[in-house]
Amino acid sequence: MSSVFLPVRIEFGIGSSTRIGSEFDSLKCKRVMIVTDKGVIQSGLLENMTQSLADSHIQFAIYDRVLPDPNIACVEQAKEFYFSEQCDGILAVGGGSSIDTAKAAGVLVTNSEPIMSYTGIDQIKNQLPPLITVPTTCGTGSEVTNVTVVTDENHFKKPIISSYIIPKVAILDPNLLLSLPPHLVASTGMDALTHAIEALTNNIQNWYGDSCALEAIRLIGKSLRPAAANGNITDLGRMLYASTLAGIAFTVSRLGLVHAMSHPVSGFAGIPHGVANAVLLPYVMSFNLVGNPHAYALAANALGISPQENEMAAAVEGVKEVIKLNHQLGIPKSFKALGVNEELIPGMIEDTFKSGNVAINPRRVSISDVEQIYKKSFSGDSPLGFIE
Ligand SMILES: [Fe+2]
Repeated sequence: MSSVFLPVRIEFGIGSSTRIGSEFDSLKCKRVMIVTDKGVIQSGLLENMTQSLADSHIQFAIYDRVLPDPNIACVEQAKEFYFSEQCDGILAVGGGSSIDTAKAAGVLVTNSEPIMSYTGIDQIKNQLPPLITVPTTCGTGSEVTNVTVVTDENHFKKPIISSYIIPKVAILDPNLLLSLPPHLVASTGMDALTHAIEALTNNIQNWYGDSCALEAIRLIGKSLRPAAANGNITDLGRMLYASTLAGIAFTVSRLGLVHAMSHPVSGFAGIPHGVANAVLLPYVMSFNLVGNPHAYALAANALGISPQENEMAAAVEGVKEVIKLNHQLGIPKSFKALGVNEELIPGMIEDTFKSGNVAINPRRVSISDVEQIYKKSFSGDSPLGFIE
């Protein structure tokens, strides 16, 4: 059995964000809350969109106080802003933090309980206000997904999952990625790759999710290096498309141990989500290979690895390719190199096991397994140590 429900219209194309006004007009919105961060404002990316809203006689108010890994206070503040500005629709412009803040604020606009009472699956009672998402990175996938993540007072990143959270429209405009710094192309691109590999290899089989994941991996294998190196619009466009495909893949097929372990690294140590995933990905792949060599071989082939004598050999080459990719993109080899305090590991292990992504990981995981993966990724030991 497999099920697909993804009621989001996706508009892809160079310049597509300049039609945002007519999109909100067709949703009958009169005053839109724009949720973004100060970096997006400073880069000037909003200007064409606010002009488009003005051309369509749609008023707007800008909430630009989004923080990385949005917490309860941040999403509460965005909700208050929505009410005080008397808005009737939401436009999210930015990376995962802006889009997740917009989604969580939207939950609070139409649902009266505190945000943390909606964590888990299908706890939301009412449809959100009309929400349009415009990603400005190539990693989150949040522009199309049914999930938002909010950080609680104990630094634990908690997912809220519901089909009500799926945006009405996602607008993918490669022009918006032209000013994205190379290190953010790299880290958000590695987040997208992690989404696709985890969705493909975990214990949830879904033909639609697997198809999207494979195509995302293929596009990322082809375009992430050149997109980060020279920022040409063709490769950035492919990365944006791949990121959304990976978002679709994990909406229907979910994730795995990399995300279960990376959320505590971000929550406790403030390491950006894409970087935390990139560091952990080759370690978890190595550990997981025996659980699903077939899917890891498919991922390796999609990354460009030529056929090997058997699936395990191909899967191992896939891990080596990810290690090489991280190196070429300038991703640090270890959490130690990123300045993370190793004494945080016990708390991170505890939080890892609060994630629903542990149960669907392709290989059963014990506390000592997670401890080993954290320790190796902290010190920068070879990820291939799990195989040899
Ligand atoms: Fe992610």
